[in-house]
Amino acid sequence: MISQNELLKLIPQALNETRLPLQGRESGKVRDWYELSNGQRLIVTTDRLSAFDRILARVPYKGQVLNQLSAWWFEQTKSIIPNHLLSIPDPNAAIVRRVNPIAVEVIVRGYITGVTSTALWHRYSLGERNIYGYDFPDGLRKNQRLPEPIITPTTKGGETGHDERLTCAEVVEKGILEEATWNQVQAAALAIFKRGQELAAKTELILVDTKYEFGITDDGQVMLIDEVHTPDSSRFWRSNVYQKLFDEGKEPENFDKEFIRLAYTEKGYRGDGKIPAMPDELWAAASRRYIAIYEMLTGKTFVPGEYPIEERLLKNLELAGIK
Ligand SMILES: Nc1ncnc2c1ncn2[C@@H]1O[C@H](COP(=O)(O)OP(=O)(O)O)[C@@H](O)[C@H]1O
Ligand SMILES: [Mg+2]
Repeated sequence: MISQNELLKLIPQALNETRLPLQGRESGKVRDWYELSNGQRLIVTTDRLSAFDRILARVPYKGQVLNQLSAWWFEQTKSIIPNHLLSIPDPNAAIVRRVNPIAVEVIVRGYITGVTSTALWHRYSLGERNIYGYDFPDGLRKNQRLPEPIITPTTKGGETGHDERLTCAEVVEKGILEEATWNQVQAAALAIFKRGQELAAKTELILVDTKYEFGITDDGQVMLIDEVHTPDSSRFWRSNVYQKLFDEGKEPENFDKEFIRLAYTEKGYRGDGKIPAMPDELWAAASRRYIAIYEMLTGKTFVPGEYPIEERLLKNLELAGIK
Protein backbone atom coordinates (compact mmCIF):
# COMPACT_ATOMS: atom_id res chain seq x y z
CA MET A 1 0.00 0.00 0.00
CA ILE A 2 1.25 3.48 -0.87
CA SER A 3 2.18 5.50 2.21
CA GLN A 4 0.16 8.42 3.50
CA ASN A 5 3.20 10.69 2.89
CA GLU A 6 3.50 9.70 -0.75
CA LEU A 7 -0.20 10.28 -1.25
CA LEU A 8 0.00 13.70 0.38
CA LYS A 9 2.77 14.66 -2.05
CA LEU A 10 0.73 13.46 -5.03
CA ILE A 11 -2.40 15.51 -4.28
CA PRO A 12 -1.28 18.58 -6.28
CA GLN A 13 -0.44 16.34 -9.25
CA ALA A 14 -3.62 14.30 -9.22
CA LEU A 15 -5.69 14.59 -12.41
CA ASN A 16 -8.00 17.58 -12.21
CA GLU A 17 -8.96 17.93 -15.86
CA THR A 18 -7.69 16.97 -19.26
CA ARG A 19 -7.04 19.10 -22.33
CA LEU A 20 -6.22 16.42 -24.85
CA PRO A 21 -5.68 17.36 -28.49
CA LEU A 22 -8.94 15.67 -29.52
CA GLN A 23 -12.27 16.97 -30.79
CA GLY A 24 -15.54 17.33 -28.93
CA ARG A 25 -14.44 17.59 -25.33
CA GLU A 26 -17.15 17.53 -22.67
CA SER A 27 -17.09 16.98 -18.96
CA GLY A 28 -19.26 15.88 -16.08
CA LYS A 29 -18.53 16.05 -12.39
CA VAL A 30 -15.93 13.33 -12.46
CA ARG A 31 -15.24 12.43 -16.09
CA ASP A 32 -13.99 14.21 -19.21
CA TRP A 33 -14.87 12.68 -22.55
CA TYR A 34 -14.06 13.14 -26.21
CA GLU A 35 -16.09 12.03 -29.20
CA LEU A 36 -14.10 9.81 -31.51
CA SER A 37 -15.00 9.49 -35.18
CA ASN A 38 -16.31 5.92 -35.32
CA GLY A 39 -19.23 5.99 -32.89
CA GLN A 40 -16.82 5.59 -30.02
CA ARG A 41 -16.06 7.78 -27.08
CA LEU A 42 -12.93 8.24 -25.01
CA ILE A 43 -13.79 8.60 -21.34
CA VAL A 44 -11.11 9.84 -18.97
CA THR A 45 -11.93 9.34 -15.31
CA THR A 46 -10.25 12.17 -13.42
CA ASP A 47 -9.31 12.38 -9.75
CA ARG A 48 -12.05 14.91 -9.02
CA LEU A 49 -14.10 14.05 -5.95
CA SER A 50 -17.63 15.32 -5.75
CA ALA A 51 -20.07 15.30 -2.87
CA PHE A 52 -23.02 17.55 -2.04
CA ASP A 53 -23.17 18.07 -5.84
CA ARG A 54 -19.88 19.97 -5.80
CA ILE A 55 -16.33 19.18 -6.72
CA LEU A 56 -14.44 19.22 -3.44
CA ALA A 57 -10.94 17.97 -4.09
CA ARG A 58 -8.52 15.88 -6.07
CA VAL A 59 -7.85 12.42 -4.72
CA PRO A 60 -4.74 10.63 -6.03
CA TYR A 61 -5.56 7.40 -7.90
CA LYS A 62 -9.32 7.84 -7.55
CA GLY A 63 -9.78 8.04 -11.32
CA GLN A 64 -7.69 4.97 -11.90
CA VAL A 65 -9.61 3.02 -9.26
CA LEU A 66 -13.00 3.97 -10.72
CA ASN A 67 -11.88 3.15 -14.25
CA GLN A 68 -10.28 -0.18 -13.43
CA LEU A 69 -12.91 -1.24 -10.89
CA SER A 70 -15.72 -0.55 -13.36
CA ALA A 71 -13.84 -2.50 -16.02
CA TRP A 72 -13.59 -5.43 -13.62
CA TRP A 73 -17.33 -5.31 -12.88
CA PHE A 74 -18.17 -5.02 -16.58
CA GLU A 75 -16.27 -8.28 -17.04
CA GLN A 76 -18.12 -9.92 -14.12
CA THR A 77 -21.53 -8.88 -15.46
CA LYS A 78 -21.18 -9.17 -19.22
CA SER A 79 -22.95 -12.54 -19.26
CA ILE A 80 -25.98 -10.81 -17.71
CA ILE A 81 -26.04 -7.78 -19.99
CA PRO A 82 -23.64 -6.35 -22.60
CA ASN A 83 -21.84 -3.13 -21.72
CA HIS A 84 -20.25 -0.17 -23.45
CA LEU A 85 -16.61 -0.97 -22.69
CA LEU A 86 -14.32 -1.66 -25.66
CA SER A 87 -10.81 -1.19 -24.28
CA ILE A 88 -8.68 0.39 -21.56
CA PRO A 89 -5.81 2.27 -23.29
CA ASP A 90 -4.60 3.84 -20.03
CA PRO A 91 -5.25 3.29 -16.30
CA ASN A 92 -7.48 6.40 -16.29
CA ALA A 93 -9.13 5.97 -19.67
CA ALA A 94 -11.68 3.80 -21.44
CA ILE A 95 -12.80 3.55 -25.03
CA VAL A 96 -16.53 2.89 -25.06
CA ARG A 97 -19.38 2.58 -27.52
CA ARG A 98 -21.36 5.78 -27.63
CA VAL A 99 -25.01 5.03 -26.98
CA ASN A 100 -28.19 6.97 -26.36
CA PRO A 101 -28.35 7.17 -22.58
CA ILE A 102 -31.67 6.24 -21.01
CA ALA A 103 -33.03 9.24 -19.12
CA VAL A 104 -33.45 7.44 -15.79
CA GLU A 105 -30.97 6.65 -13.08
CA VAL A 106 -31.66 3.08 -12.10
CA ILE A 107 -31.11 2.89 -8.37
CA VAL A 108 -31.27 -0.50 -6.68
CA ARG A 109 -31.54 -0.71 -2.91
CA GLY A 110 -31.09 -3.72 -0.67
CA TYR A 111 -31.51 -1.83 2.63
CA ILE A 112 -33.62 1.02 3.96
CA THR A 113 -31.14 3.79 4.71
CA GLY A 114 -29.94 7.26 3.71
CA VAL A 115 -30.71 10.79 4.83
CA THR A 116 -30.87 12.75 1.55
CA SER A 117 -34.27 13.77 0.16
CA THR A 118 -34.52 10.83 -2.26
CA ALA A 119 -33.36 8.21 0.28
CA LEU A 120 -35.74 5.50 1.49
CA TRP A 121 -35.03 5.96 5.17
CA HIS A 122 -35.51 9.71 4.93
CA ARG A 123 -38.97 9.31 3.35
CA TYR A 124 -39.91 6.55 5.79
CA SER A 125 -38.85 8.62 8.81
CA LEU A 126 -41.11 11.42 7.57
CA GLY A 127 -43.99 8.96 7.97
CA GLU A 128 -44.40 7.95 4.32
CA ARG A 129 -45.41 4.32 3.89
CA ASN A 130 -45.75 4.26 0.12
CA ILE A 131 -42.38 5.21 -1.30
CA TYR A 132 -41.45 4.94 -4.98
CA GLY A 133 -44.72 3.00 -5.41
CA TYR A 134 -43.81 0.34 -2.84
CA ASP A 135 -45.76 -0.25 0.39
CA PHE A 136 -43.69 -0.42 3.56
CA PRO A 137 -44.91 -1.81 6.89
CA ASP A 138 -44.69 0.11 10.18
CA GLY A 139 -41.83 -0.70 12.53
CA LEU A 140 -38.90 -0.80 10.14
CA ARG A 141 -35.58 0.38 11.50
CA LYS A 142 -32.88 2.41 9.84
CA ASN A 143 -30.38 0.26 7.91
CA GLN A 144 -32.67 -2.80 7.96
CA ARG A 145 -32.34 -5.25 5.11
CA LEU A 146 -35.29 -5.28 2.70
CA PRO A 147 -36.92 -8.66 1.96
CA GLU A 148 -35.90 -8.22 -1.71
CA PRO A 149 -33.85 -5.50 -3.42
CA ILE A 150 -36.05 -2.88 -5.06
CA ILE A 151 -35.62 -0.44 -7.94
CA THR A 152 -36.21 3.22 -7.11
CA PRO A 153 -35.69 5.18 -10.33
CA THR A 154 -35.07 8.91 -10.53
CA THR A 155 -34.92 11.32 -13.43
CA LYS A 156 -31.45 12.49 -14.43
CA GLY A 157 -31.14 15.93 -12.87
CA GLY A 158 -28.23 16.92 -15.04
CA GLU A 159 -25.94 19.86 -14.26
CA THR A 160 -28.43 22.07 -12.47
CA GLY A 161 -31.70 20.25 -11.86
CA HIS A 162 -32.32 17.84 -9.02
CA ASP A 163 -33.06 14.17 -9.45
CA GLU A 164 -36.75 13.52 -9.06
CA ARG A 165 -38.27 10.35 -7.73
CA LEU A 166 -40.21 8.11 -10.07
CA THR A 167 -42.16 4.92 -9.58
CA CYS A 168 -41.37 2.02 -11.88
CA ALA A 169 -44.80 2.45 -13.48
CA GLU A 170 -44.15 6.15 -14.17
CA VAL A 171 -41.09 5.37 -16.27
CA VAL A 172 -43.50 3.94 -18.84
CA GLU A 173 -46.50 6.23 -18.11
CA LYS A 174 -44.38 9.35 -18.63
CA GLY A 175 -43.15 7.99 -21.94
CA ILE A 176 -39.51 7.79 -20.83
CA LEU A 177 -39.18 4.19 -22.02
CA GLU A 178 -41.28 1.57 -23.72
CA GLU A 179 -42.55 -1.11 -21.41
CA ALA A 180 -40.56 -3.94 -22.98
CA THR A 181 -37.29 -1.99 -22.74
CA TRP A 182 -37.97 -0.93 -19.16
CA ASN A 183 -38.72 -4.52 -18.18
CA GLN A 184 -35.43 -5.58 -19.73
CA VAL A 185 -33.57 -2.83 -17.86
CA GLN A 186 -35.19 -3.73 -14.53
CA ALA A 187 -34.41 -7.42 -14.89
CA ALA A 188 -30.80 -6.64 -15.80
CA ALA A 189 -30.42 -4.18 -12.90
CA LEU A 190 -31.68 -6.71 -10.34
CA ALA A 191 -29.48 -9.45 -11.76
CA ILE A 192 -26.34 -7.27 -11.75
CA PHE A 193 -27.13 -6.17 -8.21
CA LYS A 194 -27.46 -9.80 -7.12
CA ARG A 195 -24.12 -10.64 -8.73
CA GLY A 196 -22.61 -7.58 -7.04
CA GLN A 197 -23.92 -8.60 -3.62
CA GLU A 198 -22.59 -12.13 -4.04
CA LEU A 199 -19.11 -11.01 -5.07
CA ALA A 200 -18.97 -8.29 -2.38
CA ALA A 201 -20.02 -10.84 0.27
CA LYS A 202 -16.94 -12.95 -0.51
CA THR A 203 -14.80 -10.12 0.79
CA GLU A 204 -16.98 -9.30 3.80
CA LEU A 205 -18.61 -6.28 2.20
CA ILE A 206 -22.31 -5.64 1.80
CA LEU A 207 -23.34 -3.93 -1.42
CA VAL A 208 -26.07 -1.82 0.15
CA ASP A 209 -27.35 0.15 -2.81
CA THR A 210 -26.14 1.42 -6.14
CA LYS A 211 -26.93 3.42 -9.24
CA TYR A 212 -26.80 2.08 -12.78
CA GLU A 213 -27.02 3.84 -16.10
CA PHE A 214 -28.13 2.17 -19.29
CA GLY A 215 -28.11 3.18 -22.92
CA ILE A 216 -29.55 1.96 -26.18
CA THR A 217 -27.43 1.44 -29.28
CA ASP A 218 -28.62 2.65 -32.68
CA ASP A 219 -29.64 -0.91 -33.48
CA GLY A 220 -31.79 -1.12 -30.34
CA GLN A 221 -29.56 -3.09 -28.00
CA VAL A 222 -29.77 -2.23 -24.28
CA MET A 223 -26.34 -1.78 -22.67
CA LEU A 224 -24.91 -1.10 -19.26
CA ILE A 225 -22.86 2.14 -19.40
CA ASP A 226 -21.06 4.61 -17.13
CA GLU A 227 -19.64 3.00 -13.97
CA VAL A 228 -20.48 -0.10 -11.98
CA HIS A 229 -20.29 -0.81 -8.24
CA THR A 230 -17.69 1.85 -7.49
CA PRO A 231 -17.50 3.76 -4.22
CA ASP A 232 -18.92 6.76 -6.13
CA SER A 233 -22.03 4.94 -7.32
CA SER A 234 -22.57 2.52 -4.44
CA ARG A 235 -22.76 2.20 -0.71
CA PHE A 236 -20.71 -0.54 0.95
CA TRP A 237 -20.84 -1.70 4.57
CA ARG A 238 -18.65 -4.19 6.42
CA SER A 239 -20.66 -7.39 6.68
CA ASN A 240 -18.84 -8.89 9.66
CA VAL A 241 -20.06 -6.18 12.07
CA TYR A 242 -23.35 -5.25 10.38
CA GLN A 243 -25.70 -7.44 12.46
CA LYS A 244 -24.07 -6.64 15.79
CA LEU A 245 -24.16 -2.89 15.19
CA PHE A 246 -27.72 -3.07 13.84
CA ASP A 247 -28.89 -5.01 16.92
CA GLU A 248 -27.24 -2.41 19.16
CA GLY A 249 -28.99 0.38 17.29
CA LYS A 250 -25.69 1.75 15.99
CA GLU A 251 -24.73 2.92 12.52
CA PRO A 252 -23.01 0.36 10.27
CA GLU A 253 -19.32 0.56 9.46
CA ASN A 254 -19.18 2.29 6.09
CA PHE A 255 -16.61 1.22 3.59
CA ASP A 256 -17.23 3.76 0.86
CA LYS A 257 -16.88 7.53 0.66
CA GLU A 258 -19.44 8.20 3.40
CA PHE A 259 -16.66 9.12 5.84
CA ILE A 260 -15.97 12.21 3.72
CA ARG A 261 -19.56 13.39 4.07
CA LEU A 262 -19.34 12.69 7.79
CA ALA A 263 -16.16 14.80 8.09
CA TYR A 264 -18.15 17.74 6.68
CA THR A 265 -21.12 17.07 8.92
CA GLU A 266 -18.80 17.09 11.94
CA LYS A 267 -17.78 20.60 10.95
CA GLY A 268 -21.45 21.55 10.90
CA TYR A 269 -21.85 21.52 7.12
CA ARG A 270 -25.16 20.18 5.81
CA GLY A 271 -24.93 20.99 2.14
CA ASP A 272 -25.77 24.70 2.12
CA GLY A 273 -23.61 27.80 2.30
CA LYS A 274 -19.85 28.11 2.35
CA ILE A 275 -18.13 24.78 2.26
CA PRO A 276 -15.47 24.32 4.99
CA ALA A 277 -11.87 23.63 3.96
CA MET A 278 -10.52 20.19 4.78
CA PRO A 279 -6.95 19.12 5.53
CA ASP A 280 -5.04 17.18 2.85
CA GLU A 281 -4.92 14.25 5.25
CA LEU A 282 -8.60 13.67 4.52
CA TRP A 283 -7.92 13.38 0.78
CA ALA A 284 -4.96 11.08 1.33
CA ALA A 285 -7.20 8.93 3.53
CA ALA A 286 -9.80 8.94 0.76
CA SER A 287 -7.18 7.76 -1.69
CA ARG A 288 -6.28 4.85 0.58
CA ARG A 289 -9.95 3.97 0.95
CA TYR A 290 -10.53 3.90 -2.81
CA ILE A 291 -7.46 1.73 -3.36
CA ALA A 292 -8.49 -0.61 -0.53
CA ILE A 293 -11.97 -1.09 -1.99
CA TYR A 294 -10.47 -1.88 -5.39
CA GLU A 295 -8.17 -4.47 -3.88
CA MET A 296 -10.85 -6.06 -1.71
CA LEU A 297 -13.44 -6.40 -4.44
CA THR A 298 -11.18 -7.50 -7.27
CA GLY A 299 -8.74 -9.51 -5.17
CA LYS A 300 -5.95 -7.85 -7.18
CA THR A 301 -3.04 -5.72 -6.03
CA PHE A 302 -3.47 -2.13 -7.13
CA VAL A 303 -0.69 -1.11 -9.54
CA PRO A 304 -0.33 2.68 -9.32
CA GLY A 305 -0.15 4.41 -12.69
CA GLU A 306 2.81 6.64 -13.46
CA TYR A 307 2.83 10.38 -12.92
CA PRO A 308 2.56 12.90 -14.50
CA ILE A 309 -0.78 11.49 -15.58
CA GLU A 310 -1.57 13.63 -18.59
CA GLU A 311 1.82 12.95 -20.18
CA ARG A 312 1.36 9.21 -19.70
CA LEU A 313 -2.18 9.42 -21.03
CA LEU A 314 -1.03 11.15 -24.21
CA LYS A 315 1.62 8.52 -24.77
CA ASN A 316 -0.83 5.65 -24.24
CA LEU A 317 -3.44 7.17 -26.54
CA GLU A 318 -0.82 7.57 -29.23
CA LEU A 319 0.21 3.94 -28.79
CA ALA A 320 -3.42 2.89 -29.12
CA GLY A 321 -3.73 4.97 -32.32
CA ILE A 322 -6.41 7.25 -30.88
CA LYS A 323 -6.71 10.66 -32.51
N1 LIG B 1 -21.34 4.86 -23.47
C1 LIG B 1 -21.86 6.06 -23.17
N2 LIG B 1 -22.51 6.76 -24.13
C2 LIG B 1 -23.03 7.98 -23.86
N3 LIG B 1 -22.95 8.60 -22.64
C3 LIG B 1 -22.30 7.95 -21.66
C4 LIG B 1 -21.73 6.66 -21.86
N4 LIG B 1 -21.16 6.26 -20.69
C5 LIG B 1 -21.34 7.26 -19.79
N5 LIG B 1 -22.03 8.28 -20.36
C6 LIG B 1 -22.38 9.57 -19.72
O1 LIG B 1 -21.15 10.28 -19.53
C7 LIG B 1 -21.18 11.02 -18.31
C8 LIG B 1 -20.03 10.59 -17.41
O2 LIG B 1 -19.48 11.67 -16.70
P1 LIG B 1 -19.68 11.95 -15.14
O3 LIG B 1 -18.58 12.87 -14.75
O4 LIG B 1 -19.85 10.68 -14.39
O5 LIG B 1 -21.05 12.73 -15.24
P2 LIG B 1 -22.10 13.15 -14.11
O6 LIG B 1 -21.60 14.43 -13.52
O7 LIG B 1 -23.35 13.34 -14.93
O8 LIG B 1 -22.20 12.00 -13.16
C9 LIG B 1 -22.54 10.75 -17.69
O9 LIG B 1 -23.42 11.79 -18.01
C10 LIG B 1 -22.99 9.44 -18.35
O10 LIG B 1 -24.39 9.34 -18.42
MG1 LIG C 1 -21.46 10.06 -13.06
